[in-house]
Amino acid sequence: MIEIKNLRKTYGDKTVLDIDSLTVKKGEILVVAGPNGSGKSTLLKIIAGVIKASEGTVVSEGEIFYLPQQSVPFAKTVRRNLLFAAKDKLNAKERCSTLLNELALNELADKNALALSGGECQRLALGRVLMNKGDCLLLDEPTSAADIEGGELMEKAIKRYQAQTGCAIIMTTHSPAQALSFAHRIIMLNRGTIAEQGSASELLAEPETDWGKKFVDMWKI
Ligand SMILES: Nc1ncnc2c1ncn2[C@@H]1O[C@H](COP(=O)(O)OP(=O)(O)OP(=O)(O)O)[C@@H](O)[C@H]1O
Ligand SMILES: [Mg+2]
Repeated sequence: MIEIKNLRKTYGDKTVLDIDSLTVKKGEILVVAGPNGSGKSTLLKIIAGVIKASEGTVVSEGEIFYLPQQSVPFAKTVRRNLLFAAKDKLNAKERCSTLLNELALNELADKNALALSGGECQRLALGRVLMNKGDCLLLDEPTSAADIEGGELMEKAIKRYQAQTGCAIIMTTHSPAQALSFAHRIIMLNRGTIAEQGSASELLAEPETDWGKKFVDMWKI
C-alpha cells in the first residue's frame, strides 16, 4: 500500500536519504530506527507529502495521517483541538471522549493546549491523529516526550487503534523496547540508507553489517 522506489533527498551536495526500494503492506507495522540525523523524519515527511523528494517515487493507497516529531497544537482547548482534527464530525464527540480517557487528558480537556507541558502536548498530538480512521499512520517518535506511564498509555492507544482499524503504521523510535513490542519489521537507517532490515528477532540475532552489529549492541538487549 506504500511503495517507494529510488527515493533520494539532497540538501545542497549532501544526500540525507537514499532508499532504492521499500514497501509497506496493508496492516503492517514498520519501525524505522537509526541514529540522530540518519533520515528517519525525512522519510516520514516525504511519505506524508510535507517535503518533496529530490528523486524517486512514493505511491500510496488510502488515507495517511502523520504525527510529526514536533507538533504544535492550536490555541484552543484540548477538547477543541481533538474535535477540530476530526474529519468525520458525526462521531467526533464520542471519539473525543474515548481518547480523552485513553490518553489521560480528561483533567486537561478545558485547558488551552498552548499551556500544556511537553509530554501532555505529545499525548494531545497523538490524540489528534487517532481522531480519524486512517489506512496508514506515520508516527515520528510518538512517545519521545512522555513519562513512563504516559508512554504506556500512548502505546496502548496506538495498538488499540491498529487492532480496530487494521491500518499500517510506519513509526520511528529510539526505544528498543518500543521497537520490539510494535515491529512486524524493522529498518535501520545509517546516513540515509537502509543498513539493515528484517524482523526484530532476525535483526537482533544477526545484523549483517559491522555498522548494524555496533548499533544493535548499543540497544543493550
Ligand atoms: N531543511 C534541511 N536543510 C538541510 N539539512 C536538513 C534539512 N532537514 C534535515 N536535514 C538534515 O537531514 C539529515 C536527516 O535529518 P532527519 O531529521 O531525517 O534525521 P532523523 O533520523 O529524524 O534524526 P533524529 O533522530 O534526530 O530525529 C540530518 O543531517 C539533518 O541535518
Ligand atoms: Mg527525526
